[in-house]
Amino acid sequence: MKRWIWVPILIVLAGVVVTWRAFTMSVPHRPDVAATPETVARGAYLVRAADCVSCHTVPGGTPFAGGRAFDLGRFGTLYSPNITPDRQTGIGSWSDDDFRAALQLGIGKGGVHLYPAFPYASFTLLSDADVLAIKAYLFSLAPVHSTPPADAMRFPFSERFLMAYWSWLFDSNRRFAPDRTQSDAWNHGKYLVEALGHCGECHTSRNLLQAVERSKAYGGALTQQWKAYDITPDQAGGIGGWTDDDLVSYLSTGFAKDHGPASGPMAEAVSNSLRYLPLEDIRAIVTYLRSLEPIPSVVPVEDAAPSTDVANLEYGHQVYVRECANCHRADGTGTQSQYEALHGAETLADAQAINLTQAVLYGSTLDTAQGHFFMPRFGTGLTDTDLAAVIDYASRQLGGHSANLTPQDIAARR
Ligand code: HEC
Ligand code: HEC
Ligand code: HEC
Repeated sequence: MKRWIWVPILIVLAGVVVTWRAFTMSVPHRPDVAATPETVARGAYLVRAADCVSCHTVPGGTPFAGGRAFDLGRFGTLYSPNITPDRQTGIGSWSDDDFRAALQLGIGKGGVHLYPAFPYASFTLLSDADVLAIKAYLFSLAPVHSTPPADAMRFPFSERFLMAYWSWLFDSNRRFAPDRTQSDAWNHGKYLVEALGHCGECHTSRNLLQAVERSKAYGGALTQQWKAYDITPDQAGGIGGWTDDDLVSYLSTGFAKDHGPASGPMAEAVSNSLRYLPLEDIRAIVTYLRSLEPIPSVVPVEDAAPSTDVANLEYGHQVYVRECANCHRADGTGTQSQYEALHGAETLADAQAINLTQAVLYGSTLDTAQGHFFMPRFGTGLTDTDLAAVIDYASRQLGGHSANLTPQDIAARR
């Protein structure tokens, strides 16, 4: 027999072993435990901190009833399931084992392999007790009878079994282990950031297989068409220049003086989750972020040369005065609330004007203890020419540089 014959044999054997391991992943069987008022209360806190509601609710819909669309680009569209305790359409018939398998391994009831749009590779760090507290809370809610739309994933991604390999490769299946050389606050912050808040699901870039790149943790990423900026202590692109008070204010109220408001997906994280956390939690998050290795921003925010197109700038000025100045003032200092004060916002320094374009096209909503703040969407009212001009003008006037976007750029981002 020729020696080379071993190469395909070994490849096939390795494939068999990996397949066997990927499809036999399971959680150790344990009998269900009864919920207590304490576990339900703990679960309510954890569900807030993990922001389950943002993804499992359609805007304006019944909380946790599912149906929110996830546009995964070339992979297709996915709809979040109903996680209320309805027995037919929700998770009412799930055992503790079923629920742990979903949050820790991405395996739904009956062995359904779940897509990583559900951030189970972060939730896998949750302790068993916390996972069951989350279940206890969800099961204390009123069941809602509601079936989300059917998924529209494209072949081959529509083949759910492929996700077994993904989970085997990228889900550590490890619970959080405190580092005894660090303070309690640091460990608590790490649990909040990595396990519950799943900050890295947005703020860390992904590889070709859609797994977060550990070597670039928190160095920023393009997520849902928004730039989730670098949140490592890097001086240039990250939070190196922010004071602790700035960070606490931004995370708990959605606004920090000289850094502007949180918009889009971050406004949602603040509105539905971070603003409810006790201040010690927010401080613990800041303690942990400060200890991260500084990473130069993966989605750099760079100045562009000032625009020389005077006619376009003048046109943008007119649009700005008509559409924006009643809230943001001519100089961007805001009128009704500090939330309209844009000074220093990273978003205005970005030559690509990614988040600025998103905010103007789709608007943004922020709910905090300070009130309800709302920026309308202009994508339906203004033309691409208006939008390119006003975005360029806002960048110039408020951020001190130009975006130089063309109407074609705007059309491509719609
Ligand atoms: C970033 C968005 C996101 C967040 C945050 C999120 N989920 Fe999900 N979840 C999803 C999506 C999308 C799916 C569907 C995955 C699929 O169809 O493969 C899902 C699926 C599930 C399932 C499987 C249900 C079923 O019928 O198969 C459970 C259970 C679940 N999530 C619970 C939770 C809990 C509990 C939390 C908070 C601790 C949470 N999710 C947070 C997006 C999210
Ligand atoms: C759903 C995606 C998402 C999640 C989850 C998320 N972020 Fe963000 N974050 C963003 C986006 C997008 C921005 C930019 C917002 C803007 O332009 O106003 C942002 C902005 C920020 C900023 C401001 C950075 C700057 O330079 O202006 C900080 C700080 C931050 N996030 C921290 C966190 C922390 C801590 C967590 C976890 C507790 C978290 N984020 C979770 C998407 C997210
Ligand atoms: C009805 C009042 C209103 C109008 C009109 C309005 N905005 Fe806003 N805008 C807000 C509020 C409130 C916020 C902060 C809330 C948020 O971002 O979620 C905001 C946020 C922003 C941000 C901050 C983005 C960030 O994350 O740092 C930018 C930039 C912005 N607006 C630009 C504009 C431009 C350009 C126009 C005109 C095309 C405009 N706004 C019109 C109220 C308004």
